Amino acid sequence: MGSGAKPSAAVPRHIGIIMDGNGRWATRRKLRRTLGHTRGIEAAKRIVREAIAQKIEYLSLYAFSTENWRRTEEEVSFILALVAKNLRSQYSFYRENNVCVRHSGNLEGLPCQVRDEIHRVTEETRANTAITVNLAVNYGGRDEIVRAANRALQSRQASCDTPPTQDDLLLTEETIQSHLDLPDLPDPDLIIRTGGHRRLSNFLIWESAYAELYFSNRFWPEWTGKDLRKAIHDFGSRKRNFGGTG
Ligand code: IPE
Ligand code: IPE
Ligand code: MG
Repeated sequence: MGSGAKPSAAVPRHIGIIMDGNGRWATRRKLRRTLGHTRGIEAAKRIVREAIAQKIEYLSLYAFSTENWRRTEEEVSFILALVAKNLRSQYSFYRENNVCVRHSGNLEGLPCQVRDEIHRVTEETRANTAITVNLAVNYGGRDEIVRAANRALQSRQASCDTPPTQDDLLLTEETIQSHLDLPDLPDPDLIIRTGGHRRLSNFLIWESAYAELYFSNRFWPEWTGKDLRKAIHDFGSRKRNFGGTG
């Protein structure tokens, strides 16, 4: 480093985004909430492009939560159909931008059309290397932890020839971690929530134990590359301790 040069600020390896505010963006314009979701897809594409430009390795996008089933049937089916349609129609976007798509969440609860598209696109984009985009669809942090714990217990029992002792059956952080939906992903360094609310709404509960949090009042359909750059810049000024001394 030349004299006078500042050390470059830390860049998050993994960013998670709670893409909130689609409905309010639309209703404030006297439009249907569903149009807000459609515009939200455009925002997601802008942000994936910017994340690649900023050399972010992993981007987790919260698209539909395990609690979002509480919405009207019309809105739920609209969102799920939009997800399925875009997984299919955005294939050239993934190819041109070299995006590897992964999924986290409970596949079993999803309509088979959505499940099929998720399987297809994750398979077809597997070898892409510019960024890994984790789409959280029918995702809930608590649901993920419970499924991980159950898978950990089942694999323990299956691997025991002799009856397991009490100690064999004890779970550790490592066994739960290794049975999460995407155990190979590093924990998110930065969680962004758009749309003005300051809560996690069951997003990456286990993984965000030490994430930095960033809240923006702008609704998701309004988000541009500039907003992401601002969040990354803010992250660069934070001092992380991970429980150690500062
Ligand atoms: C986030 O936007 C998208 C989903 C939850 C699918 P909302 O639909 O929650 O928008 P607001 O919060 O009602 O404005
Ligand atoms: C979180 O937003 C879920 C997604 C962005 C997919 P919500 O709008 O569902 O969160 P709450 O209900 O306001 O906490
Ligand atoms: Mg919301």
